[in-house]
Amino acid sequence: MSEKISSIAQTLPHLGVNDPARVGALFAEVRAAFDRDASSAGDEASWKILRDAWLGRKSGVLTLVTDNWLKPASPELKRAVGAALNELRAHVEAQIEERRKALQASTEQTAAARERLDLSLPGVERPIGSRHLVRQVQEEIERIFLSIGFSVVEGPEIETPYYNFEALNIPEYHPVRDDMDTFYLDVPPGAKPLLLRTHTSPMQIRTMEKQKPPVRIIVPGKVYRRDNPDATHSFMFHQVEGLAVDTDITFCEFKGTMEYFIREFFGPSVKTRFRPSYFPFTEPSAELDASCIFCGGRGSGCAKCKGSGWIELFGAGMVDPSVYGFVNYDAKKLSGFAFGLGPDRMAMLKYGVEDIQTFFQNDVRFLRQFP
Ligand code: FA5
Repeated sequence: MSEKISSIAQTLPHLGVNDPARVGALFAEVRAAFDRDASSAGDEASWKILRDAWLGRKSGVLTLVTDNWLKPASPELKRAVGAALNELRAHVEAQIEERRKALQASTEQTAAARERLDLSLPGVERPIGSRHLVRQVQEEIERIFLSIGFSVVEGPEIETPYYNFEALNIPEYHPVRDDMDTFYLDVPPGAKPLLLRTHTSPMQIRTMEKQKPPVRIIVPGKVYRRDNPDATHSFMFHQVEGLAVDTDITFCEFKGTMEYFIREFFGPSVKTRFRPSYFPFTEPSAELDASCIFCGGRGSGCAKCKGSGWIELFGAGMVDPSVYGFVNYDAKKLSGFAFGLGPDRMAMLKYGVEDIQTFFQNDVRFLRQFP
């Protein structure tokens, strides 16, 4: 509060004001002091100080003027003091309210300026990534098999030895287990052993256990093997299992389906070849080769196919009748074929990727090449 109005602490006789004519001058000083105070109230906090200093009920200026000047005023002065005080109060209240509105308006203006949208600014671009090449290849494989009546199922990556080996006709001491020596999980003593599946073939058994024939499925998923990493081997990789079982499936249909798939996937110019092979759960078994897409099957001088003109693609065969025994299927009435594709290696072949490890290193410079 202004120093100049310390007079309000005293009564009019103390101030030597006995004449109504001097009352006006006294109030003019108070009003001038208010106007000075009001002009410096530039924000909400100082506006509140101003309001309390002048209108505060207990010790605001107007209360003091009422108590010290008006109430004790002599009858001759009372009328003039009352009128001047009313005028002062009206002025103070009006000014304080006006100031409040002005402050509020300027706060809103500042907020609006801060929040104003500039539509000409460039937007924030968030990279959304893309599907991994292996996923794209997997989806392409799915598309081809879905188009010829297969459906897609998925299965657990943690398996029991029964589904991963025994029910696929691979008993405990069968030498083929050496090729698939794998990661076993730490389980409590006495609990059944568990392992990371080494192929998607366990889903042949799980599907046939649940479903009556006919069966036509493919099973994409991750598999694990204790293979040393190199350009074509990874300890985690992908497979797409396939299984078709019905009453009248012949080797011809098996061969025709495989050839159809390879041509759809690699293009019409690619030739296919069946090589005899061995899997305990198929009989006969075959390894499928495609004519080398790099040298067009010529072979000589081609490092990719090591001069042979052929590239090994995947294993397959007619379902071994002994497998039907594990799932209560009638081996006399049923026949079928199965295959196990490696989408990582197929992606390498189709897109000319030299090293399988690049799929799993998450280097965006590599991944961006396959949007
Ligand atoms: C099997 O895993 C059989 N279950 C396939 C099968 C299914 C045969 C149904 C008959 C009937 P194999 O071990 O060959 O077979 O593996 C199949 C494919 O997985 C290979 O052709 C290859 O593409 C891929 N593959 C195997 N090991 C690796 C590895 N370490 N890294 C990347 N891909 C691999």
